[in-house]
Amino acid sequence: MTILTDETEIRKIRGSGRIIKEIFDWLKDNIREGISTAALDREIETIIRQKGGEPAFKGYRGYPASSCVSVNEVVVHGIPSDRIILKDGDIVSIDIGVRKNDYFTDAARTFALGGVSEEARKLIRVTEKSLCEGMSKAVVGNSISDISGAIERTIRKSGYQEVRTFVGHGTGRELHESPEIPNWREKGRGSTRLKKGLVLAIEPMVNIGTREVRILADGWTAVTKDGKLSAHFEHTVIVGKGKAEALT
Ligand code: MF3
Ligand code: CO
Repeated sequence: MTILTDETEIRKIRGSGRIIKEIFDWLKDNIREGISTAALDREIETIIRQKGGEPAFKGYRGYPASSCVSVNEVVVHGIPSDRIILKDGDIVSIDIGVRKNDYFTDAARTFALGGVSEEARKLIRVTEKSLCEGMSKAVVGNSISDISGAIERTIRKSGYQEVRTFVGHGTGRELHESPEIPNWREKGRGSTRLKKGLVLAIEPMVNIGTREVRILADGWTAVTKDGKLSAHFEHTVIVGKGKAEALT
């Protein structure tokens, strides 16, 4: 667990998170049909390095790229490829990890390209809302299960399903730290109390159909078992009194 209360350290991790934020601002205007997911990944890596960071995913357990680019039925961990070309109507989840000033931050957003179906739009809206609701519970005195419960409730109200194969996590000094943050509430789990300064990566993944996923032969790409759409939003936050600070 990483707990940061010293203002100098907090400033350092903000510098890490700022890189991801700036990349997403850039992506909003620059993600478009016709570009390959590998070309996007190269742009992302260039920006990370220009801004003095390192891509935290590259080489992590052998992962070959600087970002995960997960299109449509891909839930997470889509490996960027020159053969995957974005097209009108796609929904594209981009997940980025950065190390800078000795600190890791991790975040994801799902983008809609052009004429996306009403259902896909709703999926993106619900997934982002569930992240916001979860973040609103990342405050001193609550426990992890309060975050989990808020995320699960938001997703269930919509009729969609939370993915259970992957969970959110502590971050900060390492990319992945304890505690785990499931996107559903479960008895006997999530009792960790939230202390001021705890650094968390909260990351709901939501499917329109079944929550079940399957891993492709590349060992990474996770797709929905029924081939229906999936979305993913993630922020790295610092737990505070009454409010979490989003770093990404
Ligand atoms: N953002 C993902 C997570 O939170 C990390 C991707 S795994 C990697 O777990 F290998 F791509 F780094
Ligand atoms: Co993460």
